[in-house]
Amino acid sequence: MGKIIAVANQKGGVGKTTTTINLAASLATLEKTVLVVDADPQANASSGLGVDIKEVDCSLYECIIDHTDVKEAIYTTDIDGLDIIPSHIDLVGAEVEMLKIKNNREKMMKELLAPMRDEYDYILIDCAPSLGLITVNCLTAADSVIIPVQCEYFALEGISKLLNTIKIIKSKLNPRLEIEGFLLTMYDSRLRLANQIYDEVKRHFQELVFKTVIQRNVKLSESPSHGLPVILYDAESAGAKNHLNLAKEIIDKNM
Ligand SMILES: Nc1ncnc2c1ncn2[C@@H]1O[C@H](COP(=O)(O)OP(=O)(O)OP(=O)(O)O)[C@@H](O)[C@H]1O
Ligand SMILES: [Mg+2]
Repeated sequence: MGKIIAVANQKGGVGKTTTTINLAASLATLEKTVLVVDADPQANASSGLGVDIKEVDCSLYECIIDHTDVKEAIYTTDIDGLDIIPSHIDLVGAEVEMLKIKNNREKMMKELLAPMRDEYDYILIDCAPSLGLITVNCLTAADSVIIPVQCEYFALEGISKLLNTIKIIKSKLNPRLEIEGFLLTMYDSRLRLANQIYDEVKRHFQELVFKTVIQRNVKLSESPSHGLPVILYDAESAGAKNHLNLAKEIIDKNM
């Protein structure tokens, strides 16, 4: 049965989408079958994996609001074994619609993805920078959560709120939710600040911090504009190597 991993942090621009796209591509390269679920109305994971979002007529939105069969929203990508359920700007509206639902509105994503567990080894959900109802749905559907932490000032800002949300979801909606790991992103070893943040995160979260650190690497920021994960854009880049190591670390951890 496949594992569902949400990539979440309500802080914006910390590397959630970069992690989702490139971890997914790396897992697929290591011969795992992977489904990416783009749960952010910005649809960056969709375009970053080469989906022309203007051409999408069935997105996560239709699955949630119109109860369209999830299979109709699955698009293939340029990478063998990697599929995606794209997002749409209308997903913002979905959150408002969902708030009107009385029963089990936190469990819609869980129900939607349940049949997909038999089809894929890993399902990665790219969350929006919010702790709204859609993110709550993602965390309720997930077995674990990856928390990207940017090696920048205020890196840990908001983490206690996120951890508190996870705690509440664990106690009320999804007892099996675990922290897969804290992932340090945009790390630049030349900067004292980056090393200080690394030490601070390690001190706080210890063995919950991934051994793999994602370096700041320009190939990672260029590749989405070509609709490609970095491993197809520049397989020799530090960004590609870091994400391959992260995929191996996660596979080993889950064996
Ligand atoms: N390791 C990295 N090296 C260089 N640039 C990076 C790296 N990781 C992310 N970026 C760039 O930083 C920006 C933010 O990254 P990303 O979109 O992955 O963050 P996010 O958490 O998904 O943002 P949002 O909260 O808006 O969804 C993007 O322009 C991305 O290309
Ligand atoms: Mg994003």
